Amino acid sequence: MSNETNTIRIPMPDDWHLHLRDGDVLPVTVNHAASRCRRAIVMPNLKPPIRTVEEAASYRSRIREVCKFEHFQPLMTLYLTDNTSPADIQAAKDSDFVFAVKLYPAGATTNSEDGLTSVKKAESTLARMEELDFPLLVHAESTSPDIDVFDREKAFIDGDLSWICNRFKKLRIVFEHVSSKDGVDFVESQGKRMGATVTPHHLLLTRNDLLVGGLKPHHYCLPVVKTEEDRTALLNACLKHDNVFAGTDSAPHPRSRKESHSCAAGIYTAPFFPELYAMAFERFFSNSGRDLKDLETFLRDFLCLRGERFYGLPLNDKQGIDTGIWLELQKVKTKNPESYPFGADELVPLFAGKDLDYKAEIKMADI
Ligand code: NCD
Ligand code: ZN
Repeated sequence: MSNETNTIRIPMPDDWHLHLRDGDVLPVTVNHAASRCRRAIVMPNLKPPIRTVEEAASYRSRIREVCKFEHFQPLMTLYLTDNTSPADIQAAKDSDFVFAVKLYPAGATTNSEDGLTSVKKAESTLARMEELDFPLLVHAESTSPDIDVFDREKAFIDGDLSWICNRFKKLRIVFEHVSSKDGVDFVESQGKRMGATVTPHHLLLTRNDLLVGGLKPHHYCLPVVKTEEDRTALLNACLKHDNVFAGTDSAPHPRSRKESHSCAAGIYTAPFFPELYAMAFERFFSNSGRDLKDLETFLRDFLCLRGERFYGLPLNDKQGIDTGIWLELQKVKTKNPESYPFGADELVPLFAGKDLDYKAEIKMADI
């Protein structure tokens, strides 16, 4: 951060885990995301899910059609079902727009009904992924009803995820939205073949923010936010590990589905996610006695460079010069909107109506 201006300047960030949905809300979600990122790994958990390269191609066209920003590149994924075949993986690898396959344990989260009922059912498919070096993205939560909701990440690690990692030693895996110290420890134990995404809300909230003073539906997501010890472990992991990178898991639901007796899981952050990460890490740098001069370099790495390295994508340069587009984050209090129009309903973002510590602006080179 340059002292005179209090401005952080980074290449246009990427979002390595994003939900855009489909249909009449797509113009809203796509343009919010594209206003803050250049590339995004787009989750396939539509209803019905994106299972084939053809379905991914047509979803990608719908996204591009409504997008008003030229720079935005949606990076597509396939949804792993009990019926996904090795040939589906080959087709994905042969395409130039599908970058990974997402494993949802059936019943673990929003729109996961078509997910895997048992990891063993995917054995030959996972074997082909390992062979083709095609990344597996994992929603790492056990679905056993007898497991406490705060322990579901650990239970999945001890069960299915350990089985996958031991059986497929070279398969590259992203541990999505890691939320606990146990998750961080496991990611560390797997070395370079395992990446992890961390959301801004898991870096900013604990379960107190969800449960104290009345239930807060807009702080509810899966995996559920956890303890202060877990939050601190996540912040430290982001600073320590080159394979831990930004993935917002921004997951829009209409207000009526959030403020309801069966509140849908998902927190919406896409329109201001770099501001949130800057807030989380500036506070952490200050509280842990780190030099704020290093914040800009760290954010560039975490938001732009590490993910593309993991996915083997063309490299972003340091200042956004190659791409001609970068983002400036100024340390200025900015009031977040109370809500956005969302089809016939409304979309309430995280920290609705509250002040964010940063203001972001896209900058483009005159070329
Ligand atoms: C996501 C959604 O709404 O699609 N919800 C969430 O709480 N994170 C699904 C997911 O990533 O688990
Ligand atoms: Zn998600």
